Amino acid sequence: MNKLAKLDKLYVWHPFTQMKDWLQSEPTVIVKGRGIYLYDFYGKRYIDANSSIWTNLHGHNNSYLNRALCNQLKKIAHSSALGLANEPASILAERLVKIVNPRKILNENLRNKPLEKVFYSDNGSTAMEIAIKLAFEYTRRSGLSKNPRFLSLSSAYHGDTIGAVSVGHIDLFHKTWSPLLFKTDYVMSPYCYRCKYNKSEPERADAREYKKCRWECVDVFEKKFRDAKQNGKPITAFVFEPLIQGSAGMIAHPDGWLRKVAEIARNNRALLIADEVMTGFGRTGICKDSDDTSLFACHKEAVQPDFIALSKGLTGGYLPMAATLTTKDVFNAFLGDYTEFKTFFHGHSYTANQLGSSVALANLDLLEDKDSIKSRNKLELALSNELKLLWKYKQIGDIRQVGLVVGIELVKNWRTREPYEPKEQAGIKVCKAMAKRGVITRPVGNIVVIMPPYCANEKHCKKIVSAIAESIDETLN
Ligand SMILES: Cc1ncc(COP(=O)(O)O)c(C=O)c1O
Repeated sequence: MNKLAKLDKLYVWHPFTQMKDWLQSEPTVIVKGRGIYLYDFYGKRYIDANSSIWTNLHGHNNSYLNRALCNQLKKIAHSSALGLANEPASILAERLVKIVNPRKILNENLRNKPLEKVFYSDNGSTAMEIAIKLAFEYTRRSGLSKNPRFLSLSSAYHGDTIGAVSVGHIDLFHKTWSPLLFKTDYVMSPYCYRCKYNKSEPERADAREYKKCRWECVDVFEKKFRDAKQNGKPITAFVFEPLIQGSAGMIAHPDGWLRKVAEIARNNRALLIADEVMTGFGRTGICKDSDDTSLFACHKEAVQPDFIALSKGLTGGYLPMAATLTTKDVFNAFLGDYTEFKTFFHGHSYTANQLGSSVALANLDLLEDKDSIKSRNKLELALSNELKLLWKYKQIGDIRQVGLVVGIELVKNWRTREPYEPKEQAGIKVCKAMAKRGVITRPVGNIVVIMPPYCANEKHCKKIVSAIAESIDETLN
């Protein structure tokens, strides 16, 4: 075993990892990256098929991002945002405000307010924590409710800090902490493949064909609001991942669902909190029917939230940084004379970090470049073409693709949809076998996740899909 692997095993405690298993084998130590590839200590190269846990956008060691970072480093790495402004964070805030407010969507509905204020933090969890705290206090201060109540989706995941965990509903991750959490409600997510109304047959035809569906999940959603109001505990904020729920198992929502439920939430005067930590910055593909080519998933459904939480792709996968954007109404609720203490008492040491901000600006340059838009469209098509080859596997029940995000649900038998037991570790086994073949990704339970950086091409898609096919043959027969 190499010396770095030894050091890791001696000292490092890994996230979301059973360390007993970890300690039994030699960990892969990544020493460098270039483009879509990661290289380990021994020089073996791997396709980074999940973009380093959904963060990387343009590939590793990107010369444009590197240059932006080095140029900033020559000036300053970090100065505090408590009491001081700085150059790249101010410019970035203006740029973010520009891209989260597509004019067409704002004009379409007067209830859609522009997001004009940016609160920086460090990661997806803090971005959500900030949205939750602001929504809570804004609701109280604006007289909407003395007891703000949050609704999120079944299997929701919004991060690991206590507020974010409170709006999360994955028992495996969240139940242990329940005595520490504030109470929130949840409603069924539109998980068509396992819909309790049994209305979809995705494995037979096109995964997005919902012939017999009468939007029962939307009725359930509406009833949730009605019941809450009747019980004197109205829901005041709806928290959601737009279009696809990542850690829930890449649950892709059917077209139109978000638009319908957002309308219901709005009719009930609930705030909309969009968690675009995973979906933001083009992951869910280009808005094809909009002139705006928005980089955000909620805009594909013409939904403009009151809060949007951004992280992961914000810096192209380079540095930990996050932003929570909200409306002037929310901002104004925290204005007052000093001694009124209406201040938002929240902040982090690295808030508005200059290195992160400058690389985020360069990231936006790349994202807005016409060539990048073209190649993302090409990649989306290449992925969907290659994925068709996998439908023949009886161990694959569903293949869900939203733009450049893919979840492949492994099942014991596609006819019965019987899931693998956790102890069978189907997802883990397949992903380990894929790593042997030079493709790295990480499953979510029995779902194999594919989310390559945008520099992936057809050849890489072929390699990823053949690694999945061979790995299923090797491990699940
Ligand atoms: C949708 C979503 N929200 C929030 C988070 C938390 O982000 P972080 O891990 O940066 O705290 C994640 C992380 O995967 C996520 O997928």
